Amino acid sequence: MKSPRPRPPVQIDPWGSNQVQDYARLRDEFGIEPFGAEEWGVFSSPHRLFRRGVVFGHRDFQRIEDAIRGHDPWAVMTGLMPSGDMHLGHKMVMDQVVAHQAQGADIHIAIADYEAVAARGLTLEKARALALDQYVLNYLALGLDPGRAEVYFQTQRRRVRDLADRFAQKVNLSQLQALYGFGGETSLAHINAPLVQAADILHVQREELGGPRPVLVPVGVDQDPHIRFTRDIASRFRRFNIAGSTITNQGGEGQKTLVQDEVGLFVRGKEDPGRWLDIADDVLGKAGISVADQRRKQPDYRVLWTGMKPDSVFVDSDGKARLRRLGRDMDLVLARAEQERGEFGFIQPSATFHRFITGLDGGKMSSSRPDSSIFLTEDPGVAEKKLMRSITGGRATAEEQRREGADPSKCPVYELYLYHLADDARLETVYSECTGGERLCGGCKREAAGLLVEFLASHKERRDEVAHLVGEIVADD
Ligand code: TRP
Ligand code: SF4
Repeated sequence: MKSPRPRPPVQIDPWGSNQVQDYARLRDEFGIEPFGAEEWGVFSSPHRLFRRGVVFGHRDFQRIEDAIRGHDPWAVMTGLMPSGDMHLGHKMVMDQVVAHQAQGADIHIAIADYEAVAARGLTLEKARALALDQYVLNYLALGLDPGRAEVYFQTQRRRVRDLADRFAQKVNLSQLQALYGFGGETSLAHINAPLVQAADILHVQREELGGPRPVLVPVGVDQDPHIRFTRDIASRFRRFNIAGSTITNQGGEGQKTLVQDEVGLFVRGKEDPGRWLDIADDVLGKAGISVADQRRKQPDYRVLWTGMKPDSVFVDSDGKARLRRLGRDMDLVLARAEQERGEFGFIQPSATFHRFITGLDGGKMSSSRPDSSIFLTEDPGVAEKKLMRSITGGRATAEEQRREGADPSKCPVYELYLYHLADDARLETVYSECTGGERLCGGCKREAAGLLVEFLASHKERRDEVAHLVGEIVADD
């Protein structure tokens, strides 16, 4: 019997231009978890991008849920590489960020000018000019409130660069090669870019920017390698790691396995583990977490036993241990204790992943192929012409379409409605008329073009109105 042909692995490359086709496999192969009603239900008025499945996956969103339910602080951190004019593909994250600001998050936006120079070869001047006119002004026009938000430049924020240098001490080339496919010809600046991005994401947990707290990074799924990398760095720079029941100890006389059905806090680093165990003991006691009369320190193993059963702290899903609420609380309390004692104490950042919008030519929407994209500052007449030339999910003839209906799942025009242009009622109408054959593509495009032109015109007005706020939102460093 022939065995099924193995599927080639899905490639995720943050600097590549490949379109991701198979979102379900991304979840299976990379452990991105599905983002559904159970997750977005935490928001009192969930954004359409959630309800419509545009945001399809997450990592560790549970931390954000905890923060929202507990009325605790949480932050949103994201970044943009200024490489060209912004188009509707960029607008998704921007809409999401603006929605999260209204939901209580403080917002930090990095302008990835370092990355633009390193990975795209732009000049710094060009990257900066683009960033102000495009990224900052468009964000403001889409409703970002400068009150609880800041925008900064990677190259200008010393704290970020210093942090990237610290991270570099614990990262080696093989790790970056495995994650990003860097080769011998990759420039050192490019190799450094992920470290700078990890620093972007984690530096908002420094004391002066709010301390250890859940941080959500809303990104396209191409950025997942950065997310995994940053989460790994966060835990490497922690003092305490929470672990479940089985500890394998490779001693001199072969392998010895110590099985302990209990949650332990393991101290990382060789300096004075005894002191850190005392701190953990004290902190957990004060927070009322763990079983007081069962806590035991075992300095030789650099572990504090908490007296808690693993299943109260972890959930097992697909063989992967995940922290549950009690564990996350414990992690947060310990992280704060670490930071109070001069350590980083980073909480692993959470992420949501959104689908890419399809370009009008059926490929990826990309600034480098202007006909595939609708830019946020596009002349409405030009935008309309582009849209009218778009491919669709329509049939070869009108007659066939009336008979068979068309396929919105293959239609970039439908995606414009879905991601950006339609309210719920209109979306339903478009969908059912399209599949039912009552709607033909020409008229459908004209309807979409009308909505698009309306949006672009009001966006232009908004940009003029908010131009004076640019100085307010861009940080001095
Ligand atoms: N690499 C991202 C891009 O290509 C930009 C970026 C820089 C970023 N720093 C970040 C994204 C921090 C999210 C979080 O657009
Ligand atoms: Fe796309 Fe509209 Fe045509 Fe349906 S009718 S395939 S949504 S353009």
